[in-house]
Amino acid sequence: MSTQIAKRGSSAKQQSLPDYAANLQAFHVEFANELRAMLQQLPIAPGMQVLEVAAGDGQFAIWLNELVGTEGKVTAVDISRAWLKEATVKLEDQQADGVELQQADATQLPFDDASFDFVWCAQSLYSLPRIGDCLAEMRRVLRPGGTLAILENDSLHHLLLPWPVDLELQIHTAQLRAFRAQSRQPARFYAGRWLSRLLRKAGLQRPQERCFASTRQQPLSNMAERYFSTYVQGVRERVEPWLSKRALRRLDQLIDPDHSRCLWKQSDFVAVCIDRVVWAQRSRRAK
Ligand SMILES: C[S@@+](CC[C@H](N)C(=O)[O-])C[C@H]1O[C@@H](n2cnc3c(N)ncnc32)[C@H](O)[C@@H]1O
Repeated sequence: MSTQIAKRGSSAKQQSLPDYAANLQAFHVEFANELRAMLQQLPIAPGMQVLEVAAGDGQFAIWLNELVGTEGKVTAVDISRAWLKEATVKLEDQQADGVELQQADATQLPFDDASFDFVWCAQSLYSLPRIGDCLAEMRRVLRPGGTLAILENDSLHHLLLPWPVDLELQIHTAQLRAFRAQSRQPARFYAGRWLSRLLRKAGLQRPQERCFASTRQQPLSNMAERYFSTYVQGVRERVEPWLSKRALRRLDQLIDPDHSRCLWKQSDFVAVCIDRVVWAQRSRRAK
């Protein structure tokens, strides 16, 4: 994802939204135009049967639904009841009648082989158990010749902020230590940089990768400020145990909206948000 880092495990079925929810929702609102334009570049056509895996609040499913039209259908699954509840409200608000929500585990998708023309999974690989098994499931439910598309960011490169360079390197090192402490497979947190490799390994063909960069500078919308502040709060929580006291004090000044040094209050502030997407085909000869 984006954004902040979810914890994996049995809590995935959680009844309440995770800490990163506010950041994810601000991301969808602030970058809606760019994210919709990104989806339009993927091989999705009216009439298609689309599956979204780990759909979260359902925002991508709503945009996918616009692309497949009334002749097509979007099925969106997630393991978390809390996210499915959130998605139900969002679908009603945005009158996205063509989307069907279902609770399901990405390691065992409750669909027949070859059921979908297009499978989409966004910002979730890092939180799914056994990435290889989940990708194999996504491939299984694709029809031969169908497309699997993954949006997965590299947690270390998703949002480029104008940190002082020495502090940025300390934050990166602290994040790496946090990832290692949190998971036996810390590489999952920067899976974004290995997407083509992961899809090839899962038996998909001809992966194509594209990066979409969105820039924000002053004047910022309220939602952009909300996005930056929730993002850096997530980073702060993650790195706190691993950063020196001095570095933490510097970080705190830079992310405090009431401090004169706050990053995004500077008149020359520029941030770049990078979204990485890779898509690949299931072989037409697949059984
Ligand atoms: C960071 S959110 C991304 C949500 C959405 N795709 C988006 O980009 O806004 C990760 C999602 O993965 C879901 N998830 C985690 N483990 C899962 C599993 N085993 N099966 C299905 N969904 C899972 C979580 O419930 C959460 O909604």
